[in-house]
Amino acid sequence: MTQPPLSAGPELSPAAMFPADFAWGVATAAYQIEGAVNEGGRGQSIWDTFSHQAGTTIHGDNGDIACDHFHRWEEDLDLMAELGIPSYRLSLSWSRLQPTGVGPLNPEGVRFYRELLEGCAARGITPYVTLYHWDLPQALQDDGGWPARHTAYRFGEYSGLVAEALGDLAEHWITINEPMCVAFLGHSWGMQAPGFKDDRLAVRAAHHLLVAHGLALAEFRARRPEAKMGITNIIGNLNPASDSDADRKATEYWDAISNRIFLDPVYRGRYAESTIAVYGQYGLTAMGEGAGPEDLVQPGDLAIISAPGDFAGINHYTNMLVSADESAPGGASWTHVQPAPSSFGWSNTPGALKAVLKRVAAEYTSLPLYVTENGVTFHDYVDPNGEVRDPERIDYLRGYISAVGEAIADGVDVRGYFAWSFMDNFEWAEGYDKRFGLVYVDYGTQARIPKWSAYWYRDIIAAQREAAGAAVTADATA
Ligand code: FCB
Repeated sequence: MTQPPLSAGPELSPAAMFPADFAWGVATAAYQIEGAVNEGGRGQSIWDTFSHQAGTTIHGDNGDIACDHFHRWEEDLDLMAELGIPSYRLSLSWSRLQPTGVGPLNPEGVRFYRELLEGCAARGITPYVTLYHWDLPQALQDDGGWPARHTAYRFGEYSGLVAEALGDLAEHWITINEPMCVAFLGHSWGMQAPGFKDDRLAVRAAHHLLVAHGLALAEFRARRPEAKMGITNIIGNLNPASDSDADRKATEYWDAISNRIFLDPVYRGRYAESTIAVYGQYGLTAMGEGAGPEDLVQPGDLAIISAPGDFAGINHYTNMLVSADESAPGGASWTHVQPAPSSFGWSNTPGALKAVLKRVAAEYTSLPLYVTENGVTFHDYVDPNGEVRDPERIDYLRGYISAVGEAIADGVDVRGYFAWSFMDNFEWAEGYDKRFGLVYVDYGTQARIPKWSAYWYRDIIAAQREAAGAAVTADATA
């Protein structure tokens, strides 16, 4: 592996602190990297269907091959180990494990994931496993998908089966990744699978995803009481565009329908009044009070949803400036806070992540927090020397990782940080156009080329672990 001249890199903020056992990691998701969609007895998922429909993704890209990780996982884990990355968040493909979403698990799928997780252990990499990162079996979609209540129960059953088949191979389990995107980007905005544009369906999906989380937690724990479990929510930081009353109300509105709709039920055991004010029309009630058998929120649902987990997962990307806007749905619109230099137009404002961590700790939960995703896209390319130089990504990571360390120094219990993503991959509707990786993927040859940021991250991890280890030793001898 060549050593780029920048590897010493810029340092983290001196105010940042990380404990010795902090989980330094990278993240991926099954459909975004695995490919091999017709191998190993895998069933179809909604992302196979959606990405093959004309006009749904940039350039008509799909995950048929993606990073071919299904065949290359050993070399990918080797590279991760070589880069000194101690923790890896990955997801399981539901339709690889249970092709139609019902019945026994597919032995070939189980074998693949057992080998993968054992491969992590063999290399000293600690896996953090997500049970659902967006790829619902198509057969369950055909049976109503997330807007149908029974899908939550199918997910609970699947979770129990996974606990039996794979639960011995990881300690940390994330039930669902970003119910916000599944529910709203998939059922209201129409930009992700299954591609609906119907708020009623989105709200039904949102509630059932949360019930699914609670059922999965119970089923998994019944078989693996030692497992540490949580849900990952994407949490944007919201700022009113001005201090006018109208902009402040617009900000509360966005908070109610993007953050609070998922945070309040999980960590406070009831839907917020501000969320019900918007979505009560689709059946959302605080706790299912007075519900009949056909109503969306059933009595007892909120107890299932809010059963205490072991940690809270937080994905953070966007820092939003919200304005009152008569022409927008709900009378509110938002833009990304500047500077927003990424090729996605997203912000580089690390204080937003610190604010989100502080908010969740102050307002929602005393559970340990994990930043389960954070990262950035640029127009990366391989230069004539065969290197991928991405000082902008190093700058971004330096800022956001420092923000996490500063939150810890301020007393927030953050236990891990997972950079999105280990390698460039299929970025959903954006196809292969957006590169989030620390490792560059040449999709023509499937060559992996660590970007400068990968070497920088390697060095930061090593330096932080050494400093934390030294601090622990000093404490012990004091
Ligand atoms: C998150 C998703 C992840 C990836 C990043 C950029 O919303 O969880 O799969 O696409 O965004």
